[in-house]
Amino acid sequence: MCGIVGYTGTRVAGPVLIEGLKKLEYRGYDSAGLAFHENGQLIITKAAGSVADLEKLLDDKHKTFKAGVGHTRWATHGPPTDLNAHPHSSASGEIVVVHNGIIENHRALRKRLSEEAGIEFRSETDSEVLAHLIEYYFDGDLLTTVRRAMSEVEGSYALVVAGSKQPDLLVCARQASPLIIGIGEGENFVASDIPALLTHTRKTCIMDDGEFASITPEKVELFDKEGLPVEKEIFEITWDQEAAEKGGYDHFMLKEIMEQPDAVRETLRQRVDLEAGKVDLTELEFSAQELSKTERIFIIACGTAYHAGLIGKMAIESIAGIPVEVDVASEFRYRDPLLNPNQLAIVISQSGETADTLAGLRMARSKGLKVLAITNVVGSSVSREADQVLYTWAGPEIAVASTKAYVTQLIALYLVATYLGQIRGTVEPRQSLELVEGLLALPGQLKQVLSEESRTLIKNYCEHLVNWDNAFFIGRNLDYPVAMEGALKLKEISYIHAEACAAGELKHGPLALIEKGLPVVALATQEAVLDKTMSNVQVVNARGGAVFAITREDFDDVSRQVEAVFYLPAIIDILTPVLSVVPTQLIAYYTAVARGCSVDKPRNLAKSVTVE
Ligand code: F6R
Repeated sequence: MCGIVGYTGTRVAGPVLIEGLKKLEYRGYDSAGLAFHENGQLIITKAAGSVADLEKLLDDKHKTFKAGVGHTRWATHGPPTDLNAHPHSSASGEIVVVHNGIIENHRALRKRLSEEAGIEFRSETDSEVLAHLIEYYFDGDLLTTVRRAMSEVEGSYALVVAGSKQPDLLVCARQASPLIIGIGEGENFVASDIPALLTHTRKTCIMDDGEFASITPEKVELFDKEGLPVEKEIFEITWDQEAAEKGGYDHFMLKEIMEQPDAVRETLRQRVDLEAGKVDLTELEFSAQELSKTERIFIIACGTAYHAGLIGKMAIESIAGIPVEVDVASEFRYRDPLLNPNQLAIVISQSGETADTLAGLRMARSKGLKVLAITNVVGSSVSREADQVLYTWAGPEIAVASTKAYVTQLIALYLVATYLGQIRGTVEPRQSLELVEGLLALPGQLKQVLSEESRTLIKNYCEHLVNWDNAFFIGRNLDYPVAMEGALKLKEISYIHAEACAAGELKHGPLALIEKGLPVVALATQEAVLDKTMSNVQVVNARGGAVFAITREDFDDVSRQVEAVFYLPAIIDILTPVLSVVPTQLIAYYTAVARGCSVDKPRNLAKSVTVE
């Protein structure tokens, strides 16, 4: 997500911070900023745009200061503008903060600070509230004040605070967002990621959740929530710059696959209420009346996002009882769909810039449909042109092949389906609770699916797959779109031709292609059609096809009927696509690696497709 760099020492801070921010550019960002001390004041320079643009704004005086903080922002609350860029300062300007993460109770804190302290907020960000809250409690000791203020904050944060009264002090706090301290000689650093530190030091100390740090050029001290000192181990980083950018993984794609538990947790945050057993999407300003009279939904998307849409259709139809059509955006725009203002369009786009999806959105709006966008990029074209936006909080996705963004699109669609079901009264409280519990269990289950043991199993399977030029992915019901996504991913990065087939359709033609040893990945996770899928598997077995099944641990009979099996944790049918896609991502990844392909940047493809 966003990037943080802080420096305190004897060097001129400007170049150190700019260099650190440049090392974080690979993560993606939309604005950047710095703050330095000058004559007892903190001076902020920030702007939408690149770090190189920011560098041009720094005049010579900025180049004399010995401590400061820097930030690259990837917009979450509020679009990428100069005002929304970090650092943010308190009303007096004496407190400056840079923050990564999401402050869940920022609205309540904003209200309180405006009412009790007459604060006027300058930005739309959740982060600005932290600067004011710290000033509100400031008692002369920055560290204890930050501890006190953060005890009232809910959400995730990596926070670095500077105060005008102590020019060489940085105070840090961490909760569910990484923050790493770099230890130097007569100087110290802090950053959200290791690459920002590596040119200066390899000695680091990693902050844990609930910890606070006080950093001066001479000393780094860590404390727990009660203010008791914490002893930390110092790690020597051995990664080179490139490995550090990928979090120690060989490719961004694997890093992003491994980030899926967190991405799902973030996307669910504040949108599900376990106690009430409900989904809360009141962030969407559609009226309940508007939603309850929706006659039909059109889902418009491309590629992987289209596959998410196919699952969204099944979820919305079964949970909310609204008929849904799903269209590949490049087809939607050139057919003659029967559109009217009582319908809703849902456009799904990771980048929010896909030309065909944008054209579909415009066409729907021109016919009077309200448009809900599901996107990962705040301020993207899709988010600006839609009536309402439901953001996926996957963080920037760098590998061309979409993984974590896709999984969070599924989460967004389940949330929409359940919310619509609640509004329309088609979902019983018991079913709604089951869905909420199921959604909240997903991050933990994803971790299980991504265990080292699971990855080794898939890697071993790929040794077989790697020698073939063709493969099939089969499945029924919700497993069919997952098969489509698995086939797309394999094609895209390993260049093996892969075909997805509804398992029941094999006999209508594709079966002719099954030969001895041909890899067939069978998704068999749906209880309602398990026997049917397994009888299709038998037909493949009879022709010598080598079946690798992805199924659930409660379907323990499957292993007897196939060459190899991957078990997912037990889960309700409707939510299985979130888990079952993961082994298919890993199959694509390990096969591409074994074939020596350019995993993160496959040939002929681009991350953002802004042309028709
Ligand atoms: C495949 C992939 C693409 C995108 C498609 C739409 O891994 O990433 O199929 O899903 O190009 O892109 P967005 O979601 O940005 O509209």
